[in-house]
Amino acid sequence: MITRNKPQLSVEAGAAPERKAESVTALLSKIEKDFAPAVFASSFGAEDMVLLDLIVRFAPGIEIFTLDTGRLPEETYALMKKVSEHYGVKVRAYFPEARAVEEYVRQHGPNAFYESVELRKACCFMRKVEPLKRALKDKKAWVTGLRREQLATRSDIPESEFDQDHGLHKFNLLYDWTEKEVWAYIRANNVPYNALHDKGYASIGCAPCTRAITPGEDIRAGRWWWEDEQNKECGLHRKSEAA
Ligand code: ADX
Ligand code: SF4
Repeated sequence: MITRNKPQLSVEAGAAPERKAESVTALLSKIEKDFAPAVFASSFGAEDMVLLDLIVRFAPGIEIFTLDTGRLPEETYALMKKVSEHYGVKVRAYFPEARAVEEYVRQHGPNAFYESVELRKACCFMRKVEPLKRALKDKKAWVTGLRREQLATRSDIPESEFDQDHGLHKFNLLYDWTEKEVWAYIRANNVPYNALHDKGYASIGCAPCTRAITPGEDIRAGRWWWEDEQNKECGLHRKSEAA
């Protein structure tokens, strides 16, 4: 059963993840109160499990959603089930438009994303970007698990910004967390996580576009590994202005 009183946030009182988690918790409560309706976009990756844990316990008014592309790994679907059992929370899933998928597959085939960057981005648009627009419609704010450390193009993301593309506030509450801090929080609070992380997957997206990395490789090296470094964004997150 989940605890709604102020629980221990990490093993070591006063440690960096504990202090950071307290500050994220305070912001989540503010977002819940001042930016209703606010939503949290969860891919069920490690960062998103930290946020999900904090939201369920401290800011349950923030609705949690996921973009189910239809191509997610089995381990991600297993984690979705575990989350609903562990927290008793319902995560709303947005799916791609069936007609768009039918048309793409008819024209290009089911795995055309390997053929060119354009076809890969078209797949990401139809399976993630368009459903995200629906998920954010009429909302005042969204919360993401983006971190600066993840990618060169994310190195200057702010904690909060106005998302011009979608017309609402965007909160990247883990923007300054390190990977180590994310895992310290997960371990200390027994947060469920994707089984793929124990098999060398640092960053997890769709099954055909994600693979394990070897020690020392960049944390995003397993995402769209056949493409150049600068292409490794799917269009969910574009640069906007700090608020
Ligand atoms: S991606 O753009 O490369 O796919 P990444 O996997 O790093 O994104 O995730 C960054 C953040 O985007 C996540 O913390 C989450 O907030 C959001 N996000 C990514 N994928 C999804 C998804 N399938 N459903 C909901 N949110 C997602
Ligand atoms: Fe399509 Fe791959 Fe993008 Fe998933 S990550 S939406 S399968 S191109």
